[in-house]
Amino acid sequence: MQPSTEALITAARIAARTTELGAQISADNAGRELLLLPVLKGAIPFAADLMRRIRLPLKVEYITAKSYHETESTGSVALTRWPATPLKGKHVLIVEDIVDTGRTAAALHERLLAEGPASLALCTLLDKPARRVRPFTPDYTGFEIEDHFVVGYGLDYEEHFRELDAIHRLEGL
Ligand code: IMP
Ligand code: MG
Repeated sequence: MQPSTEALITAARIAARTTELGAQISADNAGRELLLLPVLKGAIPFAADLMRRIRLPLKVEYITAKSYHETESTGSVALTRWPATPLKGKHVLIVEDIVDTGRTAAALHERLLAEGPASLALCTLLDKPARRVRPFTPDYTGFEIEDHFVVGYGLDYEEHFRELDAIHRLEGL
């Protein structure tokens, strides 16, 4: 199992798109302070780059979500790390690496909304709409991709390849 030699999405394209997303998020939230909630571990590189492209005051809290794909029918999602500060009245932006079946994003959205934020949006670097099991539309999407497994720029295959600076397809699956 190895990443494709050629990148599916190069570091330069990721950087350019992240700048656009940062500008869009800044415009949509003008006058607000944001609370960024990157989802560990995959969203770390994207969140680190995105936060430096947002021209607004912001704070960061990390959350950890683990989805159990073997339970296909229920698709339970465990949130094992929760923000240390209350979300009530805050403008919250979830930052994800990828929305695949939609289970993680939908569960996160539901649970965070119950905390009474002033607004709640989700920004994902990648979206695989063809794989959706639970309906979910991200507010901000970096790139829509076809249904193939990808690694790099935070995304892993069994904890490997997060360190690559571009998105690659995984070959040999
Ligand atoms: P969900 O299926 O939308 O709940 O996505 C759950 C998680 O699966 C994502 O946050 C990723 O960690 C992981 N995932 C889904 N597709 C890929 C992929 O192509 N590469 C690496 N991780 C993935
Ligand atoms: Mg993830």
